[in-house]
Amino acid sequence: MKKLIILGSTGSIGVSTLEVVAACKNRFRVLGLTGNSNLDLLERQIQRFHPEVVVVGNAVDAARLQLKYRRKLQVLYGPAGLITAATWPGADMLVSSLVGALGLEPTLAAIGKGYDIALANKEVLVMAGTIVMAKARQHKVRILPVDSEHSAIWQCLKNEPAKNVSRLILTASGGPFWRLSRQELAKVDVARTLAHPTWNMGRKVTIDSATLLNKGFEVIEAHHLFGIELSKIQIVIHPESIVHSMVEFTDGSVIAQLAIPDMKLPIQYALCHPDRSANELPKLDLPKIGKLTFSKPDFTRFPCLRYAYQAAETGSTMPAVMSAADEIAVQSFLDNKIGFSQISKVIAKVLKKHEVTAKPGLKDILSSTEWARREARKYIARIG
Ligand SMILES: NC(=O)c1ccc[n+]([C@@H]2O[C@H](COP(=O)([O-])OP(=O)(O)OC[C@H]3O[C@@H](n4cnc5c(N)ncnc54)[C@H](OP(=O)(O)O)[C@@H]3O)[C@@H](O)[C@H]2O)c1
Repeated sequence: MKKLIILGSTGSIGVSTLEVVAACKNRFRVLGLTGNSNLDLLERQIQRFHPEVVVVGNAVDAARLQLKYRRKLQVLYGPAGLITAATWPGADMLVSSLVGALGLEPTLAAIGKGYDIALANKEVLVMAGTIVMAKARQHKVRILPVDSEHSAIWQCLKNEPAKNVSRLILTASGGPFWRLSRQELAKVDVARTLAHPTWNMGRKVTIDSATLLNKGFEVIEAHHLFGIELSKIQIVIHPESIVHSMVEFTDGSVIAQLAIPDMKLPIQYALCHPDRSANELPKLDLPKIGKLTFSKPDFTRFPCLRYAYQAAETGSTMPAVMSAADEIAVQSFLDNKIGFSQISKVIAKVLKKHEVTAKPGLKDILSSTEWARREARKYIARIG
């Protein structure tokens, strides 16, 4: 039995992961779960999966749960609790599915402990891809992608040496606003932005999908995961979200991975790898779908895509700063403090002001993100 720790078990990826665990009977044992605001769901997960450790957001909730479950369960809280849970003894794999910067230190801690990482929390690689991948190599840890695009590329690349790869082609649904003009984009509200056409996800990644920064993050994630130069990673818009990504090889052959859009599939692939277990998920019915379409991304209407490539080219602390500025901008949009089109403006402003640190260590990255959060908040206070 593979023993799992699931960070962010009450989120969209966490819930799907537990559905995969439940469907793959007797293959997995859950050692650790974590939640923040959704304590009702966390308790239902505790009662169903019987973990040894859980983490909640604050000391009051932790004390209440500890009293209720007594010696059956260790209840921790806050960032330190997340690190203790991520390194809980006896695990085989950490499912890293917190959102944003929060997941970076627990994920690094689990790598240090030698646990394989099923990685959904893409900001971990955006912020500190070089450090994370180096630590994984040092500890002989596998970073197994959960993001559907990277899972697709991983499957397409099987046993192919890097020298045979000419391009990674990441598909993007285009989000809910793919066809809107700049004027229309300036007027969209939170409810419309949260209504993604093909994927049902957490709030932050849904907003990132609408600005297309999510796709920019995925370019950076792919660069670190597969060691492919940024210039060889391209994006195509594919609104049906059936082709999850493709690899073009030096001879011109292109291999694609297709499936229905359901995160349980890439999660299962990462958890069960190298096995492909049968499952109850609906299967692809291409005649019913009829048509798959592809078009070029628009870097003018969706400037976040451009900023992501630029930040990645600059490297160093720039991608982490972009990610931190985005976290603040997205939250401000969700709180109705700024409009949709201002998300990219906040990011641009912070990126422009940032002076990178040469060869940054983890401390430099964390302090740059703190700086970026402050700058983003200051700018939002002026424009909001
Ligand atoms: N959703 C998808 O389909 C999808 C696909 C590919 C990649 N990803 C990536 O996977 C990651 C997770 O996405 P998601 O959609 O699952 O996000 P989500 O639904 O928002 O879930 C986030 C998780 O983090 C927890 N959390 C939030 N703030 C916290 C805090 N301050 N302290 C401790 N825990 C906290 C949440 O707890 P509560 O819910 O209890 O507050 C929840 O368990 C993101 O990096 C995203 O980009 C997601």
